[in-house]
Amino acid sequence: MLKKDFTILGIESTCDETSAAVLVGGKKLVSNVIYSQIEEHKKYHGVVPELASRAHAAKIASVVEQALGKKPIDCVAFAHGPGLPGGLMVGRVAAETLAKFKKVPIIGVNHLEGHLFACEFENGEVASPLQFPLVALIVSGGHTELWYVKGYGNYKVLGRTRDDAAGEAFDKVAKLLGLPYPGGPQVSAQALKGKRDAIDFPRPLLPGTWEFSFSGIKTSVSYYLRDHKTVSVPDVCASFEQAICETLVKKTLQAAEKYKVKYIAVGGGVAANSLLRQLMEQQSRKRGISVRFVPRNMSSDNAGMIALAAWRQLEHAGAKALSKKWPIAINPNLKVKSWGK
Ligand code: KG4
Ligand code: ZN
Repeated sequence: MLKKDFTILGIESTCDETSAAVLVGGKKLVSNVIYSQIEEHKKYHGVVPELASRAHAAKIASVVEQALGKKPIDCVAFAHGPGLPGGLMVGRVAAETLAKFKKVPIIGVNHLEGHLFACEFENGEVASPLQFPLVALIVSGGHTELWYVKGYGNYKVLGRTRDDAAGEAFDKVAKLLGLPYPGGPQVSAQALKGKRDAIDFPRPLLPGTWEFSFSGIKTSVSYYLRDHKTVSVPDVCASFEQAICETLVKKTLQAAEKYKVKYIAVGGGVAANSLLRQLMEQQSRKRGISVRFVPRNMSSDNAGMIALAAWRQLEHAGAKALSKKWPIAINPNLKVKSWGK
């Protein structure tokens, strides 16, 4: 049994956000400081790993200092994968140094589990816990995964993307159109002025599997741009966004029906997308399924979600979660693994 005010310092550095957060009693996020490296990567239209590592190294100490202040902590949690090796190493060194110095245990958290648990926050508090069993759609810049989640820490990965992640497809299409990085919000803003049925981009449903594939849609956009002298950027964006979102929604609902769940959770950076939210909401309501979206302010990478993922592990797996040997290895290709019942 954890004490009521058990305090976790979370650290996140898997991609292009350097973040530290303090979660008290598994309920209240008293800080969640995020340094976004977007400006550093903007001119390259994507994350440059070497620049990301340097920026994490440069910022981690001040981000942790801002988040932690003089607060006492009982545990340090950090995202030990999946992600870019350089960033993961910076997170690990920071987490281990602090944990040793403060003489508290350390927990390694899967970044993608963080995206799922971020769905539990509301205005910086864990308002209502997730309801199970559920189907989770995790859609970010680096990952697109569909999980059947029976309970806390009980995962069956149904499918992943075979090539580009959904966010990556948004970013690449933005680049083709000359829109700045990150592409998701830019494409989405352009799409509001366009016609969603202007261009018939493919919907890669890959029947018989729960996998995704988004590189074909991106290639279709590039062929369309090559073959048309004048194009309406809003129409391309609207049609592309429609194709991606319809595909995500259809497959998620098929999985929800197959696994007979009444709940869906959608997390990750792309979960901020308004069309995705709208289509998922409409289609789920028709089937009596309730959808929980991550709040927009917690959708992109942040350490609050890492701290909560650690809390859930401690709560459900108890001492086992803390018994891991030091050092906790980083793993750029870490897969989600069950730890609950
Ligand atoms: O989860 P996240 O912050 O980082 C990773 O773990 O990858 O996700 C970032 C991704 C980027 O690809 C970005 O373009 C996308 O999320 N994104 C969006 C939107 N906001 C962010 N994609 C579509 N629509 C949005 N509104
Ligand atoms: Zn992420």
